[in-house]
Amino acid sequence: MILLDGKVTSAAVKENIKKETLLLIDAYKRVPHLAAILVGNNGASETYVASKVKNCEEVGFKSSLIRFDVDIAEQILLDKIIELNNDLSVDGILVQLPLPKHISEGKVIETINAAKDVDGFHPINAGKLVQGLPSFVPATPYGVMLMLEHYNIQTKGKHAVVIGRSNIVGRPMSILLSSNLPYGNCTVTICHSHTPNLKEICLQADILIAALGKPGFVKQDMVKDGAVIIDVGITRVVDETAKRGFRIKGDVAFDEVSHKASAITPVPGGVGLMTIAGLLKNTLQAYKSNYEL
Ligand code: GUN
Repeated sequence: MILLDGKVTSAAVKENIKKETLLLIDAYKRVPHLAAILVGNNGASETYVASKVKNCEEVGFKSSLIRFDVDIAEQILLDKIIELNNDLSVDGILVQLPLPKHISEGKVIETINAAKDVDGFHPINAGKLVQGLPSFVPATPYGVMLMLEHYNIQTKGKHAVVIGRSNIVGRPMSILLSSNLPYGNCTVTICHSHTPNLKEICLQADILIAALGKPGFVKQDMVKDGAVIIDVGITRVVDETAKRGFRIKGDVAFDEVSHKASAITPVPGGVGLMTIAGLLKNTLQAYKSNYEL
């Protein structure tokens, strides 16, 4: 069994980004710049955004963290996005999701200039991805593709089963795996809450991507011998014995499933770290596009 190590893989990707960034700064005399917006103080979102900012610094990017109170008026947020769209020193913009209920996520995403949408959530980028055109790919599925590439996991002609159909992970993941790409060309089945015979479908998977957000959902009796298992889940589960009062759990029951898998991502230490790698690659691409690179 191969452990698909997000720490090792993301470090390798980040090292390449860092080297390229140094050369680009030298050539263009400007530093790649990511602006991240955080509304409210949701614990998980705080952690993710802090990690994004820290990783920007590690590869030599500038980052700006813009914070708003949870009860901010939608228009103030939209005005800030417009300001960042017009700021020539900003290459990438991300608004951490989820947003408070009184703010329309759709409106927020559509306000971001698609050329700065390093999350790849804008309908223009989502549409381009579907058509196989160059676009920003949402960071988590992008990170999974980088992981498959790093470990040279053969995907052509394989049956990939994706559990979950979110715009952030499941849907773009299914599109990438079915696309004519070096680590694509799978036959893809996408499952969701209305799929009746989920276990039977999962048992047919050569590659199983769990992205439904239910800790320990995928058990060994749902997995074929030798399958590649990608666990996208990162749920905080209360645990009084843990230092922070919670533990991070994946969607896969790792201890039992790892015996059957040919390769599997751990949680933590798997896909979560690759999401950051995907975001950094998108931010660098946004910067390069300014120079028609
Ligand atoms: N919330 C959960 N995942 C993501 C992500 O990849 N980007 C943003 N902006 N918000 C998220």
